Amino acid sequence: MVDDPASRSTILTGDRPTGPLHLGHYAGSLRNRVRLQGEHDQTLLIADLQGLTDNAGRAADVRANVLEVALDYLAVGIDPARTTIALQSAIPELCELTVLYLNLVTVARLERNPTTRAEVELRGFRRDVPAGFLCYPVSQAADVTGFRATLVPVGDDQLPMIELTNEIVRRLAHLAGRPVLAECRPLLSDTPRLPGVDGRKASKSLGNAIPLSAGPDVLRAKVQAMFTDPSHVRASDPGRTEGNVVFAYLDAFDPDQDGVAALAARYREGGLGDVAVKRRLVEVLDALVAPIRDRREALARDPGEVLSIVRRGSERSRPVVASVVADVRRVFHLDDAIGA
Ligand code: TRP
Repeated sequence: MVDDPASRSTILTGDRPTGPLHLGHYAGSLRNRVRLQGEHDQTLLIADLQGLTDNAGRAADVRANVLEVALDYLAVGIDPARTTIALQSAIPELCELTVLYLNLVTVARLERNPTTRAEVELRGFRRDVPAGFLCYPVSQAADVTGFRATLVPVGDDQLPMIELTNEIVRRLAHLAGRPVLAECRPLLSDTPRLPGVDGRKASKSLGNAIPLSAGPDVLRAKVQAMFTDPSHVRASDPGRTEGNVVFAYLDAFDPDQDGVAALAARYREGGLGDVAVKRRLVEVLDALVAPIRDRREALARDPGEVLSIVRRGSERSRPVVASVVADVRRVFHLDDAIGA
């Protein structure tokens, strides 16, 4: 299709393996990634080192989730022949790059990052925030530049990370007196952020997201529990569709968007009950998730094969990152210190 080499970009994006991926990941990013593979050189990074920055006490879980995230990728249609799947900790060059970049960023700058600030708040950290956690945006800048990525498909919460990455790239160019690495730009999804079933921000710790691997019973229970419009008591009452989680999910996933518009109009007028819209949503989500679940189950029978895809992807990635490390070491005069 779009195989014009001039329009190919290098894409890097990633996920922390701290739990199974959910429908929010699918709407916000995974379906974009499936669409982009083949048109661009794409790598998906399972960011286990980043996952550890606030989960050092749950390291075994992080490790176990590496396989789960890889299964989620493959089950939604990521094709390892067209997308590289790599594991952050299997590419130690990324750590060297992180350490060098830490010299280009101030603590004050890291403390101003709105995304990590919100995460620190959510986790109840105070002075006890792990240093690695405060610094993970620098490690993410190493991920992006280490792969020489120019396009980063992410949710809008990741924009501060992209900004920091480009600041580091400019600092490096300033130090070197010439461009060293390319800047990158974000690719935002056109689906607004999906709320959790309770209407709050979807989060693993709140348990309000719907896992991609959800079975039919979980799916039905989650839809049942969805926040709608508390003042829409009888079906005949007019209802609100804004802030209504069922409609947020229908907007994101129902292939029949004209049908959704018609349902929404009837709901607002009065005469359409929550039961009916929820029934439609269960149908839509089941049709979406069932094939993903089936593929996932089939793939899960051979975890060795899945992990070897990740191992090969990581090995293939190392020379690229090593070449970036060499470029950055040169800027810091580390290449000729002892003639090595
Ligand atoms: N911080 C990202 C998230 O929580 C995950 C991530 C790690 C990432 N490394 C990355 C995203 C590199 C984009 C590029 O979703």
